[in-house]
Amino acid sequence: MISKNMVEALNRQIGVEFFSSNIYLQMSSWAENQGLENCAAFFRKHAEEEQMHMHKIFDYICEKGELAIIGQINEPPRDYVSIHSVFEQAYKHEQFVTKSINDLVSTAYEEKDWATFNFLQWFVEEQVEEEGLFQKVLDKVKLIGDNSDSLYFIDQEVGNISAASAAA
Ligand code: FEO
Repeated sequence: MISKNMVEALNRQIGVEFFSSNIYLQMSSWAENQGLENCAAFFRKHAEEEQMHMHKIFDYICEKGELAIIGQINEPPRDYVSIHSVFEQAYKHEQFVTKSINDLVSTAYEEKDWATFNFLQWFVEEQVEEEGLFQKVLDKVKLIGDNSDSLYFIDQEVGNISAASAAA
């Protein structure tokens, strides 16, 4: 048993995850275009992860015998002034997603929908991990600096962080 209100909220989250995937895919193309291959691979991988998040919610709604809905997805931003600003916006976006997940958890709690509340705990943990990762990369980018001489080192460092997080 799941309420109409809860299904609508989960369907909105499908849109958030889909949009997240498109933002990171677009960022990946921007990075590739700047010759930042490791940054491009980092965002491409995250675009795939967001698709996986979207599918997880989609499947849950279907399992509950409800209709999963793919709504309209806004066009992601495509113009960035620097790799620093790309990572800053990615980090801000993850904070927005965390808020969106927290709102869903609150709805499940208010409705005493414990099945959905439990289902959402995976996303709560995932957001802790993702915010942490994006924060880590942003800190490194700030530390290295954002002038043209630093770009090679930023790209190397993002590659190292990606490899470490994949191995964890
Ligand atoms: Fe699905 Fe990065 O949030």
